Amino acid sequence: MRDGRGERRAVRAEEVEWEARGVKSIAFRDRFLSRALPGQFAMIWIPGVDEIPMSVSRIGPGEWASITVKGVGEATGALLGIEAGDRIWVRGPYGTHYEFEGSRRPLLVAGGIGAASLMPLAEAMAAGDRIPTMVMGGRSIGEIPLIRRAGALEASGRLRLVLATEDGSAGVRGLASEAAERLLGEGDHDSIFACGPEPMIAALLGIAGRIGVPLQASLERMMKCGVGICGSCSIDGLRVCRDGPVFGMGALMGMADLGRVRMDESGAKVPVSARGAAGEGGSPNAGRPGGGRGQGNPFKPQARNGPMG
Ligand SMILES: Cc1cc2nc3c(=O)[nH]c(=O)nc-3n(C[C@H](O)[C@H](O)[C@H](O)COP(=O)(O)OP(=O)(O)OC[C@H]3O[C@@H](n4cnc5c(N)ncnc54)[C@H](O)[C@@H]3O)c2cc1C
Ligand code: FES
Repeated sequence: MRDGRGERRAVRAEEVEWEARGVKSIAFRDRFLSRALPGQFAMIWIPGVDEIPMSVSRIGPGEWASITVKGVGEATGALLGIEAGDRIWVRGPYGTHYEFEGSRRPLLVAGGIGAASLMPLAEAMAAGDRIPTMVMGGRSIGEIPLIRRAGALEASGRLRLVLATEDGSAGVRGLASEAAERLLGEGDHDSIFACGPEPMIAALLGIAGRIGVPLQASLERMMKCGVGICGSCSIDGLRVCRDGPVFGMGALMGMADLGRVRMDESGAKVPVSARGAAGEGGSPNAGRPGGGRGQGNPFKPQARNGPMG
């Protein structure tokens, strides 16, 4: 297990803090996850409950790593009960990561808990010579996680932060994808990095294609093995755990199911919008121009056999 992928290992929660309504960060020390690349994920085992994928939401310094959990069901609910001193079991890091070397003027778009995947990217970019712009969206200000870390980067002049709330409680009123579209319209960005509900990703893919700015996006799918064996995370022939979770524009454009259809625990196909894929709790783009249920991949015909494929 020299790269941390082979076996589960116990780590002790050392710092636990609420980040937003129903969202907790759990920080621990682990020499493998502390060397993850931005966008990679860990498999977190809660004995007697389940093993689930979580983005590595903090990478270093030293051997520090963290996950940031939004409670949506049994396993995430159990993780919200973790206190400092408790143990969890981890394996990883797994999956692809954001490629940002060639990006000079990046725009990061985080929908809800998607910030967990993007915050280490923002920090890595800011540690170099770039000043990324980051849109953080949520239904209301109390539901946007990791805002303190983003605020600290902004205060040091290393991040331009744009909040987007659906209820107008902070920043601009509206969806993260709408705020991103306005920013992209100003022509100041040469690349987009996104993580959030799949309808948001689908909307961004349409915008990116239209204006000719490349998009990398992290996707969520039901995962069991996390290492490319079981097939539960498949999307249009790709496995999110092994080929993703971060996909480039070419792969995203080939996904007919993007923003439309996913597999549930039993392997049955269900509409993505049955639950906000990244835990925003619903489909924030539903029914809006440029996004939502049934929009799917803007580069693909919608025909198939209806939303269930
Ligand atoms: C690569 C990756 C990174 C992730 N990172 C984070 C993170 O940083 N923080 C975080 O809070 N969550 C993250 N998730 C989502 C998290 O893994 C799921 O919310 C979790 O597995 C749900 O488990 P549960 O037992 O609490 O809920 P369950 O009881 O299993 O499910 C509750 C509901 O959510 C649906 N659901 C479960 N898992 C998924 C999924 N993967 N995609 C879409 N719908 C699903 C179920 O069908 C059900 O409707 C990530 C997922 C992936 C694939
Ligand atoms: S989770 Fe098993 S193949 Fe991806």
